[in-house]
Amino acid sequence: MMMSQIVSNTKPKPQLSKETFVGGSLKAFREDPLLFMNELYRKHGDYARFRLGPQKFYAIFNPDMLKEVMITKADAFSKAGTFDEIKRLTGEGLVTSDGAHHDRQRRIMQPKFTRGHIQKYAGQMGQSTRSLIAGWNDGQQRDLTHDLFTITFDIMTRTLFSYEAGTRLEQIEKAFDSISRIATEKIRTLIRLPLLIPTKQNREYTAALCSLDDIVFGIIADRRAMGGEERQDLLSVLMEAVDESDQTGMTDRQLRDELLTMFLAGHETTAHTLAWAFDFLMRRPDVEEKLVEEWSRVLGGELPTADHFNDLVYTQNVIWETLRMRPAGYLTGRTAIQDTSLGNLPIRRGEALMISPYPLHMHPGYFDEPETFRPERFENDYVKTLPIMAYFPFGAGPRSCIGNHFAMLEMVIILAAIGQTFRLRPTPNHLPAVPEALLTLTPKGGIRVTVERR
Ligand code: HEM
Repeated sequence: MMMSQIVSNTKPKPQLSKETFVGGSLKAFREDPLLFMNELYRKHGDYARFRLGPQKFYAIFNPDMLKEVMITKADAFSKAGTFDEIKRLTGEGLVTSDGAHHDRQRRIMQPKFTRGHIQKYAGQMGQSTRSLIAGWNDGQQRDLTHDLFTITFDIMTRTLFSYEAGTRLEQIEKAFDSISRIATEKIRTLIRLPLLIPTKQNREYTAALCSLDDIVFGIIADRRAMGGEERQDLLSVLMEAVDESDQTGMTDRQLRDELLTMFLAGHETTAHTLAWAFDFLMRRPDVEEKLVEEWSRVLGGELPTADHFNDLVYTQNVIWETLRMRPAGYLTGRTAIQDTSLGNLPIRRGEALMISPYPLHMHPGYFDEPETFRPERFENDYVKTLPIMAYFPFGAGPRSCIGNHFAMLEMVIILAAIGQTFRLRPTPNHLPAVPEALLTLTPKGGIRVTVERR
């Protein structure tokens, strides 16, 4: 059934800029994409038509129509055009490829990302967190966003290719820094200067890409030269993985694309979600108290592992609630590759769609008092009582997040490992962080905290 009821789901907020003849809604979109999408939902209901410069889009909000886009009619859509800014980095990796190539890569990789398979990385997740917080002192002020980035970066480099700290690690970090900063800047301005134009920024971007290519191809070559030596990291797992249909594996280029894709998709998303989780907790002593009780009962001071995961129920719900209010993957897109329809809406080949979970996650029809952080709402499989696309922080269907189990395990372990040892307090005059919609949903200006040993 179509839900055409229109409900206001935002508190009064600053007005967005009006549409203009030349730019369409570009100005409003750039100012605040989340508010922009929410306003479209409030005004138009199931779907809305809008324009960013010359490009026209449909924003889809109705869960049944979303289910068609993402699941039942997924074959009628491609992701081409959605993440073009990062395609030079991720090539034909899972996020940015399409069609038969994507299907094959997904078929090869999916079995390696099941809950069972990724458990072997839990030890590394705990250790990376423990080493970072070993350097924290009672009463010290810390840049929390930066610290969480350091942890998820360390986890990614070690679980992907068993990387030990060293010069090449610093090079990777530097190259990634440049790439995320420049890609973010491009997204922020939505001005796409082709990379062939040698501006200073484009030269830096190209240099960073070359440096990453050197490093990653070097790692792959070293590993091939080592022959059959048993390793547990994802690189080894992917090198050995084959497509069941023809028993062929991945080329070096495909491995490179998938490694960099994992890196990009898996490091900032988890760091930012955790930063948001702590931002909520610092202002909600009641939630923190329940967490501390759970950690002391389940962990008793031990470092969290995969064996504790199922018992850390409230911790998981804190993450689910954080992903509801601050979905790191806040916006994606699709382009129709054939004529099709969504509900009664005809969609022609070539038409572009924008999809955001945020307006649905903040809809009072699905989530009571949506502005309130309340992890308890996820108890008793609440999400299963909702339409399938009312809550989708990890997407859905054949293009859903392949790293969802990895991400949940990692975030639960990091949150519990830090939280059972330190109490985080906002630094004086630090207001709740404001979301900035960049590559992922970012706490604007970062989050500074005071850490107190428990
Ligand atoms: C809080 C953490 C994360 C969130 C919120 C998140 C969210 C998402 C979303 C919404 C999508 C689908 C995008 C679309 O439909 O266009 C996606 C895809 C993807 N994610 Fe994640 N992700 C997270 C962590 C991770 C991690 C840790 C990894 C890797 C280990 C990862 C790897 C991927 C890949 C490879 C895809 C593309 C899948 C495909 O198209 O076949 N993600 N993610």
